[in-house]
Amino acid sequence: MCGIVGFTGKRAALPLLLSGLSALEYRGYDSAGVALAAERLVTVKSAGRLSCLQQKLKGGVWGQTCGIGHTRWATHGAPVDHNAHPHATPRLAMVHNGIIENYAELTAALCEQGCVFRSETDTESAAWLLDGIYGENHDPVQAIFKTIKQLRGSFAFGVIFADRPGEIYAVRRDSPLIVAQAEEGSFLASDVPALLAHTKAYYRPDEGVVCRLSAQGVCFFDDEGKEVAQRLETVDWSVEQARKDGFEHFMIKEIYEEPQALQRTVQHYLKKGLPRFQNPMLDGDALASFKRVILVACGTAMHAGLVGAYRIEKMARVPARVEIASEFRYADPVLGTGDLMILLSQSGETADTLAALRHAKAQGVPTLAIVNVVGSSVAREADHVLYTPAGPEIAVASTKAYSVQCAVLELIAIRMAMAKGRMDAHRARGLCVQLADHVPAEVLATLELSDRIRTLAVALTDAQHLFYIGRDLDCALCTEGSLKLKEISYIHSEAYAAGELKHGAISLIERDTPVVALMTVPHVAEKMISAIREVRSRGARVILFITRDLAERYEIPFDDCVQLPVSSTGQTVFGAATALQLLAYHVAAARGLDVDKPRNLAKSVTVE
Ligand code: AGP
Repeated sequence: MCGIVGFTGKRAALPLLLSGLSALEYRGYDSAGVALAAERLVTVKSAGRLSCLQQKLKGGVWGQTCGIGHTRWATHGAPVDHNAHPHATPRLAMVHNGIIENYAELTAALCEQGCVFRSETDTESAAWLLDGIYGENHDPVQAIFKTIKQLRGSFAFGVIFADRPGEIYAVRRDSPLIVAQAEEGSFLASDVPALLAHTKAYYRPDEGVVCRLSAQGVCFFDDEGKEVAQRLETVDWSVEQARKDGFEHFMIKEIYEEPQALQRTVQHYLKKGLPRFQNPMLDGDALASFKRVILVACGTAMHAGLVGAYRIEKMARVPARVEIASEFRYADPVLGTGDLMILLSQSGETADTLAALRHAKAQGVPTLAIVNVVGSSVAREADHVLYTPAGPEIAVASTKAYSVQCAVLELIAIRMAMAKGRMDAHRARGLCVQLADHVPAEVLATLELSDRIRTLAVALTDAQHLFYIGRDLDCALCTEGSLKLKEISYIHSEAYAAGELKHGAISLIERDTPVVALMTVPHVAEKMISAIREVRSRGARVILFITRDLAERYEIPFDDCVQLPVSSTGQTVFGAATALQLLAYHVAAARGLDVDKPRNLAKSVTVE
């Protein structure tokens, strides 16, 4: 959503703030700003990318050793200078990630008290509210607690009080926040990449704990003003892992990381060739007690859920359904005993997914989170968590996270099939070997097709509308292929069940309409060929992605074809996903777009 940073210590703060914001630009990048504290609080902010702010700062002398910074994904108020953070009042400067839902009533009341608002943001209402309360009690911790009691919504705040230069205060509710003590001083940030250059150990403070950062270190207070301890976490990412390592974009780097991310993730959950999750519910007979699995997520994670649902039903014969997190809790879903909710989230901070998790827990439904970021909110609040050790995913468009989520779901489906007595250890072991060894090798082989796929992509750069069609698992995969293309190339596309086209949407097919057809599932191959014939007879240009064995078995009409070096075994989703990710990447790159930071998007949507 937005990225916040802060530093206070023995060194000039500005360079550290700017490098921290640069590492967090993937969280939002339509405006940025910093506030620096010494004799007085100085705030500089600018619409546009971080480079616009750097341009504004050029030539100034910035020796202050305490400051906060912000890179924004606009929610309230256009991305213009005066709406950029930090928001300053006479007594303080504040940066915020989240949404203050009752900002309108707060703003009206504060304006009546004479506060002069200079922005259209929700954040400024919190700044003025805190300013007034602090003006009465001059106690930063108590003033913050008193303020947040009046706020509805989500926040991670960083605050500097003008009369306390050298100190930074922070507090969170539903939005991510980490603080750390390093050699240079104390840091705060929205996410780990901003701190990696300085420390790998950090605190993820509990909600309702106020953090105070100073040159001497960080401490935490409860709402009675008592100092409390917080758990120190460490991350095993290197700075290099969070950097591009010579790739042009993070996205292509992360696609190329898929073989080892898959291998690392699968091996992590295999013991003696069978799924072992180090989790009594998943490893024990409890798994057999579940009568239904509900997979809840957003975007790409939800698409991984579609694949997981297919595999759970296919192998464990347990009813599985996928819910869009933002719809789920408002639909007043019927939940009951025997349900298991699986939440999927790369960031673990997606507000819609977190809200669905809380709803399920309130209904007493057991929750399992599959998350990439250690210690994130979804991971902390779920009853059980399986981490996907895929390493940092920086590009806004999710790729390797999707693949490893599908891999973990495959292992859960196998384990559930065994628990239900539907799969013996021999068959399970065979599938696990395939997942652990053959699949990463097939993904690696698919990466070799990148140049071939780039050629196809160039021909699509001027397309206006595309269809992605498939059946069974391929239909689930088409939803992800279509989203990838839309979100980074800005070309409209639609994923469609191939058998459904003739019931309406085929009217949109005209001469040269590009149709990406996916064929990796043997038992629906002939039906797919019929669908391909139907669209081609109406002028479509069919780009076929097909497994080698199906290509050898059938005569299929197409205009372009990519033979996937994957075997049609039900685990083809991995290689096929990599191919569709490459297609989207190359189209966006050929269009000269900012692949890693597409317009209007952010990596983690921490507002509902
Ligand atoms: C994926 O490419 C998108 N960036 C987006 O759909 C994302 O998958 C979605 O917002 C969910 O994010 P999460 O996995 O961090 O919860």
